[in-house]
Order: sequence, then structure tokens, then C-alpha cells
Amino acid sequence: MKGIILAGGTATRLFPLTATTSKQLLPVYDRQMIFYPLNILIKARVKEILIIVAPEHSGQFLNLLGSIFEKFNIHLEFKVQKIPRGLADAFILGKNFIGKDNVVMALGDNIFEDDLSDKIRKFKSGGLVFAKKVPDPKRFGVVEIDKQGRAVSIEEKPEKPKSNFCLTGLYVYDHRVTRIARNLKPSSRGEIEITDINKKYLEMGELKVEKIRGAWLDAGTYDSLLEAGNVVREKKIYAKMDPLIDQAIGLFNEELKTIAKKRLL
Ligand code: DAU
Repeated sequence: MKGIILAGGTATRLFPLTATTSKQLLPVYDRQMIFYPLNILIKARVKEILIIVAPEHSGQFLNLLGSIFEKFNIHLEFKVQKIPRGLADAFILGKNFIGKDNVVMALGDNIFEDDLSDKIRKFKSGGLVFAKKVPDPKRFGVVEIDKQGRAVSIEEKPEKPKSNFCLTGLYVYDHRVTRIARNLKPSSRGEIEITDINKKYLEMGELKVEKIRGAWLDAGTYDSLLEAGNVVREKKIYAKMDPLIDQAIGLFNEELKTIAKKRLL
């Protein structure tokens, strides 16, 4: 299983915070936002991860993550997305990286309380998405689920949502996703939509939906960014991360302190 984190985009809803750095490098409680999706992939024992970033923030991502997992046998690659063409672009940019493997893609601004690693590890083929009941489904991709728990329809930000279940920013696919993404046409908002990839797997009868019960946040606005920090603190999400993440951050902090001391001498 390969992993991708989509951490590009312009994040205009968070201006002026994102005029100086990437949304996914903003702090959520005690660490940068990107560590939350990284935790999901690392907990699922994914060892090869592609991080897709916007050109103006590539240096900052490299400074933070360039060698942080080197000692832990986790290989990070970076790719620049010049124009935010849509979520499905991750599988076009990641085509060679994915090759013939399965792939799990996490959005760089999504924070999950649940441990989904078992579900990711057990994935064999087709597509797997995670749904969460929300009060405001219009803001998201919406999935209608039947009594047996199967997906019936999927729509991106519908005017009249058919259910209260939205699709969260975590997606698992087999390698066919690269071909499906390549054949997509841009939507009315001019993006190639991940919703259209999910619809394709649904049409093929190969899309599984898992409901998640714990907290889930998409930290894309001032309010949800603040809420994300509060939820992470209250539910101690930071303490439930894979120990490897904290070890890596600890080593990075030591290195920063040593460099700072040398500068003072
Ligand atoms: O958060 C879950 C939702 O994410 C889903 O319910 C929707 O179906 C899905 O389309 C997506 O909706 P958003 O409107 O929230 O997506 P947004 O444009 O905010 O992009 C999500 C993240 O991906 C964000 O961190 C920026 C990054 N991104 C986005 C685009 C369009 C990129 O890195 N490149 C891109 O081209």
C-alpha cells in the first residue's frame, strides 16, 4: 500500500493566515496539521508516502519533513502541484509513484479521532471511503447509504442532500484509480472531482463505505481550525498518535535546539 497526502491548494478561506504559509503547516494544538494525516498513514504501516504541495510552500514542507522520518524506515517523496486542479489530480501526479500498488490518500486538512488503520490494512481491491454523519452535508461530498450499509448515490456539495452522511477526506483505491482519474472531465466548478472517481467505483459495484463514529474535522475555516485544536486537546488525539510520530518530532526538536545553540556561540 502506497500513501498520498494532498497538501496543496490556495486556502483562500484562511487568508491572511495562509498568505505566509500553507494551511497544512498551520498548528493544530501542539503540532502542524500535516502530522494528523501522516499519523493515519503511518499507523496503517504505510512506508512510502507522496506529499503533494503548492509551489510557494515546497521549501517549508521540505524544512519540516525532508529528513524527519529517515531513521524510521519511512520514505517521503514530494511533488509540486502547480495549479489546484482538483482532488483527483493526486492520482494523475502520483501515477508513477502508485505503479501497480493500492493507494490510500488523505487530505492534508482532515483530522480523525478514530483509528482506521485496520480497515486500511485489510483493503484488497476496488474503492473504500469513510462516511460521517454531519448536520451540514451541503458543504461536502454526500453519500446515500442503504439499510445494508451499501452506497446508493454520491453527490458533490448537493443543493438538496439525500442523506446526512458526508464523505471524509480519506480514500483507498486499487491502482486502477490512476486510469479513472486520467479520464475525468472537469466539473462545473472547473475541478477534477474525487466524487467522480467514487461514482465510477460505485457504478462498477466496487465501492465500500465505512461509517466513522469518532470526531472528524475538516480544518479549512477559522472556526473549524480552532475547533480542531480544541477537539485534539479535549479528546487527547495527540496522545493517541503512533509513537513513531512523537519520536520523530522529538528528534527534530533536539536538532533545532542544537542548531540554535551553535548560532549563539
Ligand atoms: O473534507 C472532505 C471533503 O473534501 C469531501 O467531503 C468532498 O467530497 C471533497 O471534494 C473535498 O471538499 P473540499 O471542498 O473541502 O475540498 P478542498 O477544495 O477544500 O480541498 C481539500 C484539501 O485538498 C485542501 O487541504 C486543499 C487540498 N487541495 C485541493 C485541491 C482542489 C490540493 O492540494 N489540490 C487541489 O487541487
